[in-house]
Amino acid sequence: MNLIKNHGIFEKNSWILGLGIVGAVIWGGLVQIAPLFFIESTIEKVDGVRPYTPLELIGRNVYVREGCYTCHSQMVRSLRDEVERYGHYSLAAESMYDRPFQWGSKRTGPDLARVGGKYSDGWQVQHLTNPRSVVPESVMPPYEFLKGKVIDAKYIADDLKANKLLGVPYTDKDIANAQADVAAQAAAPDTDGADLNSRYGGKVNVRDFDGNAKEVTEMDALVAYLQVLGTMVDFKTYEPKKAENLR
Ligand code: HEC
Repeated sequence: MNLIKNHGIFEKNSWILGLGIVGAVIWGGLVQIAPLFFIESTIEKVDGVRPYTPLELIGRNVYVREGCYTCHSQMVRSLRDEVERYGHYSLAAESMYDRPFQWGSKRTGPDLARVGGKYSDGWQVQHLTNPRSVVPESVMPPYEFLKGKVIDAKYIADDLKANKLLGVPYTDKDIANAQADVAAQAAAPDTDGADLNSRYGGKVNVRDFDGNAKEVTEMDALVAYLQVLGTMVDFKTYEPKKAENLR
């Protein structure tokens, strides 16, 4: 009763009401923001997440350039139907090297956050060449021209440098070898993927992705990118950290 009676003071005096509002907003803001200063990171560290290789990064650039994100999200939400359809919900760490990230809610096509390894390279190439040849009811446009676009990897080292500036941990060796790594991952003649693999954690897919061993094309890059999506974290061994261990 006392509280209601005293509330009259606020209601009858606009200056006190104004101060009261400011006080309530400050308090509400502190409750929301202050805890963030005490956790070291809002992104949980997860084993397996690594920066994209230069070829994957080129594939990602093609993905962004072609506007694949206008129809595809890359974020599995923690809802039961999504997890049953696509697999484990997305972790923040899985897109921590994505600049810009590819989350979203616009899904004309399915979510692609876990499409890596779902299909063979041959399927991906065939689907990108002519989606309706494998999924007759598809409304996805064809991207056959990517097969003819030979990659000039002259500038990829600069791209790695720019990413490094934004916090992606590429080493000087990664940057120095960027152009060679592109050819090596696509298994171009006279290249060796072992060095690339040793620098990127040993699980990089090294092969001819587009079925044309003579040239490294944007199709190679895009398929290399699609095949790594959602595969970096091993969810057989991953255990979500409890909130109190998050520091
Ligand atoms: C106009 C919307 C649209 C655009 C743009 C688009 N897609 Fe799709 N995509 C779809 C639809 C619809 C499907 C589902 C039917 C099918 O499989 O073709 C699909 C399916 C896919 C699948 C298979 C996913 C699965 O789990 O079965 C992949 C991979 C894919 N798209 C990649 C891409 C890439 C890469 C690009 C850009 C180069 C792209 N898409 C652009 C609409 C689109």
